[in-house]
Amino acid sequence: MSKESNNLVKTASEEDQNKNIQNYYKLQSKIYDATRWTFLFGRKKLVRVLPFDKNAAIDILEIGCGTGYNLKRLAKAYPNAHITGLDVSEDMIRLSKKQCRDFSDRMEFLQQPYGPNQPPVPKKYDAILFSYSLTMINPHWEDLIRHAVNDLKPGGVVGLADFHDSRFLWFKKHMSNHHVRMDGHLLKLMKELYEPVVEEVKPAYGGVWEYVLFIGKKKA
Ligand SMILES: C[S@@+](CC[C@H](N)C(=O)[O-])C[C@H]1O[C@@H](n2cnc3c(N)ncnc32)[C@H](O)[C@@H]1O
Repeated sequence: MSKESNNLVKTASEEDQNKNIQNYYKLQSKIYDATRWTFLFGRKKLVRVLPFDKNAAIDILEIGCGTGYNLKRLAKAYPNAHITGLDVSEDMIRLSKKQCRDFSDRMEFLQQPYGPNQPPVPKKYDAILFSYSLTMINPHWEDLIRHAVNDLKPGGVVGLADFHDSRFLWFKKHMSNHHVRMDGHLLKLMKELYEPVVEEVKPAYGGVWEYVLFIGKKKA
């Protein structure tokens, strides 16, 4: 099943994949916040379980920040943090800036893709978060997870909230129409590269799918 489901999501060159995502979010950005709270579980907890003192002056980067759902919560939870939102979609970044305008003095935005073949980010971070972005980045998700190690400060953490897997092929097929791959593939690599601090796989909608929450420390 896992081999078959690996083929469900159409893969493309990095350039084409980024164009596909940009096109997808031209329309989806307009209904994103109204719809996604009903099924993107674990995002609030991802912010809550970060292992930092609430007053810490930390640098946080979210890859695929979308409309700024997490950025806003991070800014409230960490009043001294400097927060960077990176996203390949101009439409999503525009909404993010709007949603986070109260925190513009300590927030910056980068409209670009992330990864080893892309423009480098400007500094090193205490935390790099991936929230429902990696399952959409196919087949390059692995490059991004590996690349984040280099952009973390010593002792920094990576955070993940995302779809994990489903036992129903019809559901995986449905999600592949939205560019999403669900094969338990993210957690496996995260655990290889980072020291687990938080690791949870939870059922959603009575077990139609599972989502994953992971915080991992950069290995010394
Ligand atoms: C499902 S949304 C998640 C948004 C937000 N993180 C959240 O939790 O609501 C996925 C986001 O990842 C972005 N994205 C996809 N591929 C990307 C890439 N290669 N580099 C940066 N952002 C990317 C998309 O444009 C989109 O805004």
